[in-house]
Amino acid sequence: MEEFNASIGFDCRLFRHDIRGSIAHAKVLVKAVILKEPEARRIINGLKEVEKEIASGKARLTPELEDIHMAVEALLTRKIGPLGGKLHTGRSRNDQVALDIRLYLKDEIFEILDLAHGLKRALVESAEANLDTVMPGYTHLQRAQPVLFAHHLLAYYEMLKRDTGRLLDCLERMDEMPLGAGALAGSPYALDREYAARLLGFSRVTDNSLDSVSDRDFAIEFLSAASILMMHLSRLSEEIILWSSQEFGFIELSDAFSTGSSIMPQKKNPDVAELARGKTGRVYGHLVSLLTTMKSLPLAYNKDMQEDKEPLFDTIDTVKTVLKVYAPMLRTMKVDRERMLRATGAGFLNATDAADYLVRKGLPFREAHEAAGRAVAYCIRNEKSLEELDSNEWKALSPLFKEDIKDAVSIRRSLNARKVYGGTAPDSVKKMLRLAKKELEKGAC
Ligand code: ARG
Repeated sequence: MEEFNASIGFDCRLFRHDIRGSIAHAKVLVKAVILKEPEARRIINGLKEVEKEIASGKARLTPELEDIHMAVEALLTRKIGPLGGKLHTGRSRNDQVALDIRLYLKDEIFEILDLAHGLKRALVESAEANLDTVMPGYTHLQRAQPVLFAHHLLAYYEMLKRDTGRLLDCLERMDEMPLGAGALAGSPYALDREYAARLLGFSRVTDNSLDSVSDRDFAIEFLSAASILMMHLSRLSEEIILWSSQEFGFIELSDAFSTGSSIMPQKKNPDVAELARGKTGRVYGHLVSLLTTMKSLPLAYNKDMQEDKEPLFDTIDTVKTVLKVYAPMLRTMKVDRERMLRATGAGFLNATDAADYLVRKGLPFREAHEAAGRAVAYCIRNEKSLEELDSNEWKALSPLFKEDIKDAVSIRRSLNARKVYGGTAPDSVKKMLRLAKKELEKGAC
């Protein structure tokens, strides 16, 4: 039972936050005239020593201590005697754990925001270095229209920007201090909850004691924000894996961020991207796991909720390691501009431009689309690209095609034409790059 019941094996990582909460609670108890000033001082000094002992590994955290809250109190009492037992006045492990996870998660989210900022910077730097790199843009993984590689990278920047926004939202809603809820009904002592909130860096206190101890929305929100972030990274990973294949050959990852094969000497595998893609499943699993744990739980605290920690902790660890390794992998990848450009030349990526040309001559788009389709079919039959057709061939396809169609279907023209806000024209992309750089200067959050 002891082993089954214990959470100390994993919640030990909350020790700093538990002690921070306990120090604040001791101060609140002084204000409520439950502890005398010198008593609180002894408790606080004792807690600081306990923190050092746990950090240095001197304190042994064994299963009979059950969880980090009991462990800290036991270590404190061992140090300062029965006075340690006064600290738990007016609180319960239920409001204590609700506080600790919030404090811990807030710190971790700030770290994740910093790492995400680093990745955004790497994307922007790589985009800046590739302002004139042209690649095929795809739909259905079929070559569709030419785009700038910088534009493609900045699409991921947008995704990460939304991820940052979601994490900040999550922080904002999490910014409530639950102490004072006690086990569930609220504390009978005159605890100054606002004071506790100020001491612990929260903007406000929770409004309902039952909700304070039974709410894990903030953890679920974080897990869903993390899942979406990982989903984005899995998409980028998939592209990196494709691009670095011999079939595409668009990029080459640095040796430092790829591995060889134990049997095939020629292999260079994109392990970082593959692992990031693979770990996405694990993070989704944690989201579903906590949602399922919380499903149908009656109010207020239930021991089921002890199961919140492992999915949360593993998600934090996973997202952090992936973000840490991702930015340098991007920074060190080599881009094969020639190969990308060549790929843009085959596959009729400029067929839409031929149709748009006819639209400018007054033809309804549907008819223009059909005529451009005829041009593509003609090229396939004659093994030519649209750029290779001569004026007579164009004229035979439609009398509206004049001499200037040759220029209109050039890749450069195709790109330059898309100068709508948010489009892939070099001028538009440069504008977006400037905006992104300005945003990045503002910092991680
Ligand atoms: N270890 C518990 C958890 O992680 C702390 C709260 C326990 N409360 C209780 N009344 N048993 O959820």
